[in-house]
Amino acid sequence: MDSTQIRQLNEIISRWTGKPGALMPVLQEIQEKFGYIPEDAMKEVSAKLNIPLPEVYGVVTFYHFFSLKPKGKYKIQVCEGTACYVKGAKRVLEKFEEVLGIKVGDVTPDGKFSIESVRCIGACSHAPAVMINDQVYGRMNSEKVSQLIKTLK
Ligand code: FES
Repeated sequence: MDSTQIRQLNEIISRWTGKPGALMPVLQEIQEKFGYIPEDAMKEVSAKLNIPLPEVYGVVTFYHFFSLKPKGKYKIQVCEGTACYVKGAKRVLEKFEEVLGIKVGDVTPDGKFSIESVRCIGACSHAPAVMINDQVYGRMNSEKVSQLIKTLK
């Protein structure tokens, strides 16, 4: 974490210090601000809020909306909700992994793409659906995945 991030982190933590139930809101703010929960941030939260580190880590890993890794410039979210799943979401996910050479939950080495598996994104009628940043792409298939990545690269 750089000095700006450390300052932002301290600012978030100090606003919640001494308040009951501070852990979740603090982690949510960190996730929003940085796009993930850096390991150093978990240590700071643990020390300053006086919560054992395994407990902080346990919360971060339990809830899927917290991430331990930074996201890519293009945040690919493949829906694996029921409607998408039955229409081949798994194949779409595997195609993204193949084309980008990374696994779900990872980021490409250049920081450009990350892949996540998510639950329903509200586009069931366009299943299988994918969201990249704020844009939804429907009726995905292997060919569309390749084309999309080519365009974004
Ligand atoms: S299940 Fe995929 S958009 Fe609803």
